[in-house]
Amino acid sequence: MVGSGEQDMSAESVTLSALPPELDRERLPQHVAVIMDGNGRWARGQGLPRTMGHQRGVDVLKDLVRQCGEWGIDALTVYAFSTENWSRPEDEVSFLMVLFERALRRELRNMVEAGVQLRFVGRLDVLPQRLQDEIALSVEQSRQNTGLKFTIATNYGGRQEIVDACRAIADRVKAGTLEPDDIDRELFARHLYTNHLSDPDLVIRTSGEMRISNFLLWQMAYAELYVTETPWPEFDREAFRVALYEYQSRKRRFGGLNSDSTRSRRP
Ligand code: FPP
Repeated sequence: MVGSGEQDMSAESVTLSALPPELDRERLPQHVAVIMDGNGRWARGQGLPRTMGHQRGVDVLKDLVRQCGEWGIDALTVYAFSTENWSRPEDEVSFLMVLFERALRRELRNMVEAGVQLRFVGRLDVLPQRLQDEIALSVEQSRQNTGLKFTIATNYGGRQEIVDACRAIADRVKAGTLEPDDIDRELFARHLYTNHLSDPDLVIRTSGEMRISNFLLWQMAYAELYVTETPWPEFDREAFRVALYEYQSRKRRFGGLNSDSTRSRRP
């Protein structure tokens, strides 16, 4: 999804590009999470089928991945498909599954060359087998990379993630390898799907709804929320710059009175 045929974008050679002057590199969010909403409404507004909105959404995501890598953001997590999205019409669900699979196949090489580490979070075992195969390949091929940590939440639900973590911890207690008194917030976070990531600093939601929709429920405890009316298919570099600018203008207090950092702390 990132990189270019003309430049050498291997992990070692990725250089940070200039930030817009009003953004402070030292205070960029380390981890940005995005609820990509509004594809269907955007398409309808253009007189197009909903699927065209999703198609366009992939291009916007490609550009955001590239931008995050170039600006030195450490992690990007996007909500591609929720556990609730199965209730959509069957043909839209099938379209999305094939779209994800094709996008991965088409963009994997570019992403690997750009140093991106791909991960997927969610209940992946019920996804179509071809998509699961493409996911396994993309994770394997990007495993050694040290650039942007790009995580795609697919068949993801925040409550399910918390229940799964509880089960994993309960199994360890039952097996006698963990004492109930050892369970604290750090340990709990290590049993979440996102144990490779710090908590998100900034959560962006496009298309105006003021909801978190079962996304990263535990992890976004202290995240800054940014909701824009812009639908996902129109969320371009300028829209992202505006979101980062707004983030940098906020004072993060993490429940205290002052903050010396704009970045998340672990619980
Ligand atoms: C929400 O818009 C969007 C989705 C459910 C799908 C998002 C997926 C992508 C942008 C592609 C991701 C690509 C990869 C490779 C994982 P909506 O349909 O809910 O829009 P609406 O609220 O206007 O109906």
